[in-house]
Amino acid sequence: MKKIVILTGAGMSAESGISTFRGGGGLWDEYPVEQVATPEGYRANPELVLGFYNKRRRQLLDVVPNRGHELVAQLEKDFEVTVVTQNVDNLHERAGSTNVIHLHGELMKVCSSLEPNNMEYVETLSPDNLDVRLGDLAADGSQKRPFIVWFGESVPLMEDAISSLRGVDAFVIIGTSLNVYPAAGLLNYVPAGVPVYLIDPNEVSVSRRDVTVIRKGASEGMQQLIDDYLFLLK
Ligand code: APR
Repeated sequence: MKKIVILTGAGMSAESGISTFRGGGGLWDEYPVEQVATPEGYRANPELVLGFYNKRRRQLLDVVPNRGHELVAQLEKDFEVTVVTQNVDNLHERAGSTNVIHLHGELMKVCSSLEPNNMEYVETLSPDNLDVRLGDLAADGSQKRPFIVWFGESVPLMEDAISSLRGVDAFVIIGTSLNVYPAAGLLNYVPAGVPVYLIDPNEVSVSRRDVTVIRKGASEGMQQLIDDYLFLLK
């Protein structure tokens, strides 16, 4: 089977009703990023940060995967697929994707405040017990915190994302402004000669190489990618 790696960002989930981060009405307009998505913000006001992610977790229960997520999942019938996502929602998995690398963590998981990347202390929350409160402790006795990679923190799964590109036959980028590194740099590891497709309704600047741009939303764009390009690759 041919191998496809798909890098997704907030735009992938926009049609499910989850806000993107940047651009008009983006999440970072409403919530200062340095308060809710940095270790310094967490140290300064852990209650505010826990509350922000509690709210986002509750919102995740109210939304469902969109056609774009479904089409990505269906590619597994014909291709070996790795989804590398910057999204912390679980909509790829809920649509049926089985091989998802969450570069920026997972909203439904919590971890230790002392050792956020120690998987021994990572727990998955259940839909009927979504909230994390001050005083809730991880197995190492530290405050439970969201299993989210904040700005300034390392991105341990970047190595796995880079490894997934070995022998790749096509690379697809969906719904990311490519502002945040190292995720945005994944494109630089795609071997020369491998076709790259980018699905986004807005202009995204991409350096370095030839990219076939599909200027559409995730659902329509995925359909066009399959109809016009991927059927040739099978
Ligand atoms: N379909 C596809 N793409 C869309 C859609 C849609 N329906 N609507 C908007 N977009 C595009 C926007 O044009 C933009 O290019 O989605 C992209 C969203 O960009 P950002 O909001 O910057 O989100 P993202 O690139 O995922 O952000 C990266 O930044 O704050 C951090 O950790 C956070 O993972 C996030 C990272």
